[in-house]
Amino acid sequence: MTEPASSDTSHSIGSGGPGLSHVAIIMDGNGRWANARGMPRAAGHERGVEALRRTVEAARDIGLKYLTVFSFSTENWRRPPTEVNALFALLKAYVKRDLERLKNEGVCIRILGNKTGVPDDVAVLIERAERETISNTNCFLNIAINYGGREEMVRGIRSAVNDVKAGKIAVEDINEDLFANYLDTAGQPDPDLVIRTSGEYRLSNFLLWQAAYAELVFADVLWPDFGREHLLSAIEQYKIRERRFGAVTPEAS
Ligand code: FPP
Repeated sequence: MTEPASSDTSHSIGSGGPGLSHVAIIMDGNGRWANARGMPRAAGHERGVEALRRTVEAARDIGLKYLTVFSFSTENWRRPPTEVNALFALLKAYVKRDLERLKNEGVCIRILGNKTGVPDDVAVLIERAERETISNTNCFLNIAINYGGREEMVRGIRSAVNDVKAGKIAVEDINEDLFANYLDTAGQPDPDLVIRTSGEYRLSNFLLWQAAYAELVFADVLWPDFGREHLLSAIEQYKIRERRFGAVTPEAS
């Protein structure tokens, strides 16, 4: 995934602007896409999987190292059971259909979120996807399932407290770097860019810790219509941002 598969390098993320290694996406608008066409919401999610495939392919072509997608939140359980079931069925179908190809492309799949509570058959499949791709390093695809930023932090705190109790770490050792290792994204860089589709302007409990300094781009397109050109456009917007991380610009100092 790091080798550009396309000869068009005009959108290479390596040139100009701030560095970019991690893009995270809130794939929003599937339901509205379906409603607008008089279709069931599940049909919107189905088309959302196609958009995901296009996006993963585009990310590979431009040499993006980390891509994180928000697929099911800890709050999505509030949806009707038929929709929840449809989402998990699509997730299973995606892994079953795409795992072999992603594996061969050197993609490392990591699931973010609390696997407890995910239906057993889904848990078995996603754990297999993680296990079979764990040594891949070309690029990293994080799929957030049963994920909530607050829940992730609480799980991380519990785990750190248990390590303190077990004498593995001292309370004084706990700092931002150490705590980051207790999160689902342990060992990965924070997202540089968070994209949300559908014209909504919220983070919705997504990567609350990791996105502390991410640049945000809100794309006015429903997720099922998202594609390469929207990813490239978001990256173009990112490239002209000035990232100061709380500091001042050199000329102002
Ligand atoms: C938000 O749209 C989208 C979701 C809750 C699910 C996203 C899932 C997919 C794209 C497909 C399955 C994922 C994988 C990884 C195979 P919404 O339903 O909230 O849309 P609305 O705001 O228009 O109602």
